[in-house]
Amino acid sequence: MATGILIICSFTVNAQNSASAKMDNFINSLMKKMTLDEKIGQLNLVTPGGAVTGSVVSKDVDTKIRNGQVGGLFGITGPDKIRRAQEIAVKNSRLHIPLIFGLDVIHGHRTIFPIPLGLSASWDTALIRRSARIAANEATADGLNWVYSPMVDIARDPRWGRIAEGSGEDAFLGSQIAKAMVEGYQENDLSKDTTVMACVKHYALYGAAEAGRDYNTVDMSKLRMYNEYFAPYKAAVDAGVGSVMSSFNTVDGIPASANKFLLTDVLRKQWGFQGLVVSDYTSISEMINHGLGNLQAVSAKALNAGMDMDMVSEGFLTTLKKSLQQGKVTLDKINEACRRVLEAKYKLGLFEDPYRYCNEEREKTELMSDANLQSAREIAARSFVLLKNDNQVLPLKKSGTIALIGPLADNKRNMLGTWSVSGDPQKSITIMQGIKNVAGENVNILYAKGANISDDTAFIKRVNVFGTEIDIDPKSPEELLNEAVETAGKADVVVAVLGEAADMTGESSSMSNIGLQPGQEKLLKALVKTGKPVVLVLMNGRPMTLSWEDEHVSAILDTWFGGTEAGNAVADVLFGNYNPSGKLTASFPRNVGQIPIYYNHLNTGRPYHPGDSPKFKSNYLDVPNTPLYPFGYGLSYTTFSYSDISLSNNVLKPGGKITASVNVTNTGTRKGKETVQLYTRQMVGSIARPVKELKGFQQITLEPGETKKVTFPISVDDLKFYNSDLKYVYEPGDFKIFIGTSSADVKEADFKLE
Ligand code: NOJ
Repeated sequence: MATGILIICSFTVNAQNSASAKMDNFINSLMKKMTLDEKIGQLNLVTPGGAVTGSVVSKDVDTKIRNGQVGGLFGITGPDKIRRAQEIAVKNSRLHIPLIFGLDVIHGHRTIFPIPLGLSASWDTALIRRSARIAANEATADGLNWVYSPMVDIARDPRWGRIAEGSGEDAFLGSQIAKAMVEGYQENDLSKDTTVMACVKHYALYGAAEAGRDYNTVDMSKLRMYNEYFAPYKAAVDAGVGSVMSSFNTVDGIPASANKFLLTDVLRKQWGFQGLVVSDYTSISEMINHGLGNLQAVSAKALNAGMDMDMVSEGFLTTLKKSLQQGKVTLDKINEACRRVLEAKYKLGLFEDPYRYCNEEREKTELMSDANLQSAREIAARSFVLLKNDNQVLPLKKSGTIALIGPLADNKRNMLGTWSVSGDPQKSITIMQGIKNVAGENVNILYAKGANISDDTAFIKRVNVFGTEIDIDPKSPEELLNEAVETAGKADVVVAVLGEAADMTGESSSMSNIGLQPGQEKLLKALVKTGKPVVLVLMNGRPMTLSWEDEHVSAILDTWFGGTEAGNAVADVLFGNYNPSGKLTASFPRNVGQIPIYYNHLNTGRPYHPGDSPKFKSNYLDVPNTPLYPFGYGLSYTTFSYSDISLSNNVLKPGGKITASVNVTNTGTRKGKETVQLYTRQMVGSIARPVKELKGFQQITLEPGETKKVTFPISVDDLKFYNSDLKYVYEPGDFKIFIGTSSADVKEADFKLE
């Protein structure tokens, strides 16, 4: 048996070696034919517009393709359009080198899934992998072969609008999700017609922008980079991601796009990345604003640091030749970058068949198929997080009168959330429609808008860059409010659908106030005052400040932006057809002043524990240290109880393994899914170590009254970290282990690492 495995392994390795030798031969002979200009042309990534994802659009695209001055195109979709552009490259450029075609496919392509922050709240990597698989299927049926996803930036600051695009604050969970997404997109074989090359972004540390303001400075210790921020990028690399996108921010004074430490020392040398590095949109030319020199200087710096492809700046195209003549870059560097672009095309099978992703038949059958929509509905329901549910006001009864109130209750425009560039909001299901589909005949639904998303015209103008996401109703705010209160008065229960417009999060959508907009807050207060039970259904792309809401409404269901099928999924959960199981992946602060707030913080020398005398302790005078809703938190319509932890041994030997188990019981009356979370803490170390670190999680489904034993293996590998010398080590000593339902609600046990 073992010999059999060995033979298969060596066969696979040989096959891989011969495939890579074949690729090398092909590219070597192609590069021999290429002029310097043609090599530089391959490094140029342009957008003719279409899906607008930046402020500059490339000019004379067709001519440049014909002249061999373009390596890839992004922003267009459709086999017909892509075939047309590909034909120019393949038929009219001197060497007939095909283009690659990229796009921001972030949480689905045509069928839109929940925003990534929502997807991550499912804590279900198989489900997330499935969403990426469906997205890849649709994208390839639409002519694409390269997607700018997964976005894996750790974010601890909900003011930053792009927190919506990632998996929250934790590197361990973020790494599992990064891996799942890469696997879903690439299926370990880029040559298939249904797989795309993934692009992990934004490398690196983009989520740590100062004050949560997009594109802002990042300054971070190496220890923090290695221990708290790098892991998800590395996980994507380990999973074989084909490309990496550099970020806009500086790191240690040097913009990521010209940062040799990041692009070469860490990415290539330490992590062994062999794929393609692409800049973000004009991030090379933006280094002029960073104060690093003119276009020629910054382009040379980027290439020298390890950049392969220039997105939109055209700095490579217009200056690298001169830099070579002046000895500012070497031909080797240009060759290396060119080779990586060609390798990506080779792996995608484009030299064999440049039109392999231009299949009009697939376009007809794959996009927004019934099966994809069905998956979208299920996946959306899995992303929702029940934050509060007093007196089991949820699930709603399928009888009686519901007052459905709020500017997002019947609002197609905002269902898809940010970065859904190919999604059609008109094809999305609103919450009103979903409720009508699910509630049945015995429910009487009354509707009132109640408020505008915002009444601030200057703010609205800024949000509405991609169309009217926020409109001002012809009725005055007072009229809207009165109508809503009157409607609520006639109902048994109020469902208030409030929150953010889609583009109040996402790129360049930072906010200093992350609560409900004043008009919506006023509406909610008036609804609560009616004395009717109020269920707040939130649509949001970030953790919001909800202290008042938490105190006063009966139930809160966080539905993020759930995508094409969100309305049906919300109704499934509201009426109990689906029991919610999502758990937060980013802490919800009590107020903006607590930011940054995250569960895996250090202890300080003066930690404050509730009940302590607070003077001379690390705390605020006016607000507790704890978040309103912690990482890992989320309720269910049933309840779970945890037994104490049982350890197989309280001494762990290097090379050995112990297990930690708990029995989890469904103590409620409904079947439910629970995400059981494992955390550890190193009590004494050569450096200060976090008070908790997620090290594992498992999902179980329990019938009422059922108990399941959940066992986590723990080995030395789980306890390693980067020490002050940036060595990945473990240190013997005392550890704590925590298992529970959230980062703040756990059982605890002790063990020793020898
Ligand atoms: C800028 C964004 O930062 C990045 O995420 C995106 O992939 C590119 N634009 C391309 O649209």
